[in-house]
Amino acid sequence: MRKVEIHPDAVERVKRFTINDPQLGFGKYVAPIMIQAIFDHDEWQRFDLLPYGPLQLDPCTKVLHYGQEIFEGMKVFRHPDDRIFMFRPEMNARRFNQSARRMAMPEIPEELFLQACEIISAYSKHLVPKRLGESLYLRPFMIASEVGMGIKPAKQFLFIIVASPSGAYFAGDSVKVYIEREDIRCAPGGVGFAKTGGNYAASLNSYAKTIKLGCDQTMWLDSVEHKYVEEMSGMNFFAVIDGKIVTPALTDTILDGVTRRSVIEMARSEQLPLEERRLSVDELLQTIDDGRCSEAFVCGTAAVIAPIASFMDKDLSVHALRETNGKVCMQLREKLIGIQAGRSEAPAGWLYPIRDIHF
Ligand code: COI
Repeated sequence: MRKVEIHPDAVERVKRFTINDPQLGFGKYVAPIMIQAIFDHDEWQRFDLLPYGPLQLDPCTKVLHYGQEIFEGMKVFRHPDDRIFMFRPEMNARRFNQSARRMAMPEIPEELFLQACEIISAYSKHLVPKRLGESLYLRPFMIASEVGMGIKPAKQFLFIIVASPSGAYFAGDSVKVYIEREDIRCAPGGVGFAKTGGNYAASLNSYAKTIKLGCDQTMWLDSVEHKYVEEMSGMNFFAVIDGKIVTPALTDTILDGVTRRSVIEMARSEQLPLEERRLSVDELLQTIDDGRCSEAFVCGTAAVIAPIASFMDKDLSVHALRETNGKVCMQLREKLIGIQAGRSEAPAGWLYPIRDIHF
């Protein structure tokens, strides 16, 4: 397997780096190292562990104009015995390559992607937080680094991983949702299932509206009928209706979340009834109002599992959930956090051990 070159100045910098802040927040701090790899002449040239630093890009670099870019979000957890583990990284590796194919970008062999994640995690081991619910958030991404104004797939790319010791994504205990009925996030045949920056950029106009209205997350509906719930801007959606967990069935307009899959698998193993199906926003609001929808929650790598307090519609009417810290949401949340933190038994293959590096 190809090796990652370790630069001694990167090792020196990370060794000396500490964070003394009880409020880590999300993405506020980054480890002073990064993985960088260059794709050129039809292959990945080399992988380096370098000091973290600014990228020098020509103003005509294609990613700056045409957005040929993909990324992932992953987490590394510290267990009570001080060993550290990545959570289901093979799923991120696979999704990264799925996004790469859709965006006409080169794939990264899965074992190389995992090796690079493991190296940056191992060198950042002392930065993996100890507190329950905190983790080292890894952000692998790839950009088209070729220079030129022509609209065609680039031939040169940069792959980078940065690592951020992080806490909770949401500052509050529960999430207020704004239902977006005008803008759309993506359309069938588009790139909604790919983790590419453009999907997030397309959500920002609504994000501004959402925040102005005192909400936290935008809920996206399908682009054809403006009727069916798809996902939130950076996370997937679940509701409990008539005692059954319901989540929108995957389509090419919904991101196939690793946490979404984990929620489904945990619910099935706990014998909680669950349906992946189309869910109209009318059904959702009606069942909230008549009390049949008892709780709803969001989930994602950054968000973990967070309860929803209410939904605001276009006419500014508010539909509040009967239970904010609902039983199902809290049961699944505690289970997931327990598995990730090594406090309850993990299903086979969910935890990927990071080997120690002595430096
Ligand atoms: C993640 O959960 O890892 C994401 O990429 C979504 C974003 C809200 C941070």
